[in-house]
Amino acid sequence: MNKLTNKNIVLGVCGSIAAYKSADLIRRLTELGANIRVVMTQSANEFITPLTLQTLSQNPVHQHLLDCDSESNMSHIELARWADIILIAPCSANFIAKLAHGAADDLLSTVCLATRSPIIIVPAMNNAMWENPATQENIHTLEKREVIRFGPAAGNQACGETGLGRMQEPVQIINNLNEMFQAKLLHGQHILITAGPTQEDIDPVRYISNRSSGKMGFAIAKAAVEAGSKVTLICGPVQRSTPRHVDRIDVRTAEQMNTAVSNFVTQADIFISTAAVADYRPQVTQSEKIKKTSEDLKLELVRNPDILLNVANAANPPFTVGFAAETNNVKENALTKLKLKSLDMIAANQVGNEKGGFDSDENALAVFWPGGEILLPMATKEKIARELIAIVAERFQVSRFSETNPIIKNR
Ligand code: PMT
Repeated sequence: MNKLTNKNIVLGVCGSIAAYKSADLIRRLTELGANIRVVMTQSANEFITPLTLQTLSQNPVHQHLLDCDSESNMSHIELARWADIILIAPCSANFIAKLAHGAADDLLSTVCLATRSPIIIVPAMNNAMWENPATQENIHTLEKREVIRFGPAAGNQACGETGLGRMQEPVQIINNLNEMFQAKLLHGQHILITAGPTQEDIDPVRYISNRSSGKMGFAIAKAAVEAGSKVTLICGPVQRSTPRHVDRIDVRTAEQMNTAVSNFVTQADIFISTAAVADYRPQVTQSEKIKKTSEDLKLELVRNPDILLNVANAANPPFTVGFAAETNNVKENALTKLKLKSLDMIAANQVGNEKGGFDSDENALAVFWPGGEILLPMATKEKIARELIAIVAERFQVSRFSETNPIIKNR
């Protein structure tokens, strides 16, 4: 589905052999109706000519910061304001470093510093340069600032090596952009999301917990904001920065999470339960540190409230989406939870493997609802979250429609 018509894209081109792909990217973007303004770095000129990019984009190419002609044509501030997005493809290791350090010593870095629009980088470099701790630290810094990244892809490189570092292909970049620009599917809806683990105290220094990092829940919160909804995120103890425009409430224990959810759930249209809530807590939390006096120690555990079950079975429940973390029989167990907890939808993930699930940057989901299912293959948690939100939005609209149309509801 083309969402790029009339989108204003500043395309930054850095010095990289992959700059030849920018020409194809511009051709495809303009064919889809996007407006392109190219900003080239000085070294990009060594790989591709401004004339090529100017002809394909049908606009003058911008190259210089302190140049009267360029500034009178469209200044760096105007470019920064004009852009719906800044897409830097290829983005070199040097430019990633400049971006991470907030440099403004050429036109492209200055436009990036001056914009309030999303910045997307499409890295292209030798795989050793990509893996270098300096580059990885810079990438980490950019992630914290919510700079979006497409790739890099793996494969043969121009330098003769093989590995991560290839610029994504133009077709893939366009698919990613279309996903990003998907209509504000959940405009005006309030989504309540839980994320991360809970900690259940044994004594003042010890607790029971699990390996949830909050990555999945935070990515869903971000995707929900992108889809136009108001988002309240209730999270257990995780070290993550809050996505923009998300209201965050920090809790520690399952009981605290339960209370926070009950406080907000009546205002929510949709509830997504991504948190790995501890099913049990110690019956007694010792007020003093337990001493190592006996050979073995028995802990008496009691059940925690099932937050998801309580929400789904309340008098006027929101559209309720559960998660299922399963090591085996994923589909069977997920369908049982869907039914037993009376959920509108459940997203099941295989856990305990090397890839996906707890604390991984990637995940794969099997999403089930009464009468339907869809598989979301292994991808970054950000991508999976956007896909999940699109499915939630669709099923939410269907459920709304059938609620107001009794003939459909009773089928
Ligand atoms: O945080 P990450 O490192 O990114 O990892 C993501 C994840 C693996 C934690 C996530 O994708 C996930 O699977 N979350 C659900 C984990 C879980 O507790 O699954 P479960 O099958 O035990 O629970 C089923 C559902 O009931 C879940 O929606 C859970 O939030 C909810 N639940 C469980 C127990 C409880 N007492 N209250 C609940 O609300």
